[in-house]
Amino acid sequence: MPMRQEWKPGTMIYPLPAVIVSCGDFDNANLITVAWTGTICTNPAMCYISVRPERHSYEMIRERMEFTINLTTESMARATDRCGVKSGRDIDKWADAALTKGRGHKVSCPYICESPLSIECRVKEIMRLGSHDMFIAEVMSVLADDSLIDPETGAFRLDKAGLMAYSHGAYWSLGNEIGRFGWSVKKK
Ligand SMILES: Cc1cc2nc3c(=O)[nH]c(=O)nc-3n(C[C@H](O)[C@H](O)[C@H](O)COP(=O)(O)O)c2cc1C
Repeated sequence: MPMRQEWKPGTMIYPLPAVIVSCGDFDNANLITVAWTGTICTNPAMCYISVRPERHSYEMIRERMEFTINLTTESMARATDRCGVKSGRDIDKWADAALTKGRGHKVSCPYICESPLSIECRVKEIMRLGSHDMFIAEVMSVLADDSLIDPETGAFRLDKAGLMAYSHGAYWSLGNEIGRFGWSVKKK
């Protein structure tokens, strides 16, 4: 049997999405790349982002108790990285990353028009954890790019969006589909 090295505790759950979170309001909005994000409840639909208090975005989210999670694609990879290494304290990241603001529907934060799917969230609770605070939020609405909706079936073709993943310090495109939910127990 191969041997295992034991490492000190660390965060090694990969792959993850690297989303761009928009915060603030339309005229004073910022963008922050976040990999510490995920789903925590189906009904009510709830998710979280974990953000370091020293980020410029932190206060903006805390003040309004709202944010929007924008999924990222291969063509947004460069913008995703830039929004994760530059601070809104110093530059306008919308202009810098050439991203377009769309008016929020249920929150005051704008969404990113180039993103295939934006999830508008309202913060329910802030959990102090250590390096990061966790913003636990309820989903207020999901804004889907209608060019990805198949006109015949009405299905949302997220598989055609070119979503990307983040794993151990690098951005990756997704490979081929290898199965569908429940496929392992389906009769042939
Ligand atoms: C791929 C990637 C993932 C990141 N994930 C997080 C995260 O989950 N939480 C966080 O606080 N910062 C994260 N960061 C760092 C922030 O995006 C970065 O510090 C950003 O410049 C903060 O912007 P702001 O000062 O305008 O808020 C990540 C950066 C990258 C490149």
